[in-house]
Amino acid sequence: MSLTIRSIDQADVEMCGKIGFQAHKAISSAHGYPSEQPSFEFAVGMIKTMMANPNSWGALAERDGQILGSIFLHLFPPSPVAAIGPLTVDPSSEGKVGRALMETALVEARKRDYDQVRLVQSPSHLRSFVLYTKCGFTLRESLFIMHGNPGLTTLEKKHDVRAARPEDISACNEICKSIHGFSRDMELRQAIDQRVAIINVDNTGSITGYAAGLGFLGHAVAKTNDVLKALVANSSAILGPGFFVPGRNFDLLKWLLDSGFRILWPANLMTFGNYQDPTAPFLPSIAY
Ligand SMILES: CC(C)(COP(=O)(O)OP(=O)(O)OC[C@H]1O[C@@H](n2cnc3c(N)ncnc32)[C@H](O)[C@@H]1OP(=O)(O)O)[C@@H](O)C(=O)NCCC(=O)NCCS
Repeated sequence: MSLTIRSIDQADVEMCGKIGFQAHKAISSAHGYPSEQPSFEFAVGMIKTMMANPNSWGALAERDGQILGSIFLHLFPPSPVAAIGPLTVDPSSEGKVGRALMETALVEARKRDYDQVRLVQSPSHLRSFVLYTKCGFTLRESLFIMHGNPGLTTLEKKHDVRAARPEDISACNEICKSIHGFSRDMELRQAIDQRVAIINVDNTGSITGYAAGLGFLGHAVAKTNDVLKALVANSSAILGPGFFVPGRNFDLLKWLLDSGFRILWPANLMTFGNYQDPTAPFLPSIAY
């Protein structure tokens, strides 16, 4: 029977969650890492959340009435970048299914006028790396997800970190634009609403960096590594299993490791379409 790609209905959520859980369990246990989808309940809950988000779009693959895998595309208007993930295929059905789902998601992105698509890949899984490369994604940054206690970091006290407020948004957006070429306004606003966004202010009162929550779902940008370190050191908690650090930011990575942080697992930032190399330190989220 031929493979069909269709949108996901509420009735499909449990099966898609089960496949996501099993697919990630197979990979993480093969490499000795904690799983990105640690339980069936977590996997189902995540799909329910994405289905309820008007800025997320999902599709599944099925053959002969049997669901084989699913993919999600996320938009963050007005950011020009769309993100993909998770993409998961039933371990017993691997082979061409991932490609069909990815091509459908890229067509969907184009239909919505998004020509920049990004994702965070698990590099220990060669299959997904090859699939993404063949679909046109370029490896831009090797990442490490860091876990530890921000309170134990040491930093000379010359930084003023406080909760971000709505009136800080435009200055934060300008910093993000100068580093990445675009702002991440929607994600910053959500983080402010959730009271997890923080900013660093210099002694003239200017904002020099922000974190839209320090964690799995949060990104950060900063004018210097010292500002990024101040944002980490003044975070009350890490949201989720950890936060992503670009491996080529030696200074930040060494400071974190010297402060007792541990690497949970590696990851890769991969991009499709236009990409500007960031001009200053940043932390990506699980989206991009
Ligand atoms: C990643 C995943 C979605 C791929 O699904 P899939 O149906 O097996 O994908 P496809 O077969 O379409 O594509 C895989 C490609 O990698 C190729 N490949 C696999 N291992 C390879 C290797 N070591 N060297 C070169 N090519 C390799 C396959 O031949 C195939 O290419 P082809 O179709 O041109 O022959 C699936 O394995 C999965 O769900 N994994 C667990 C969860 C996960 O890691 N998701 C991605 C998170 S970033």
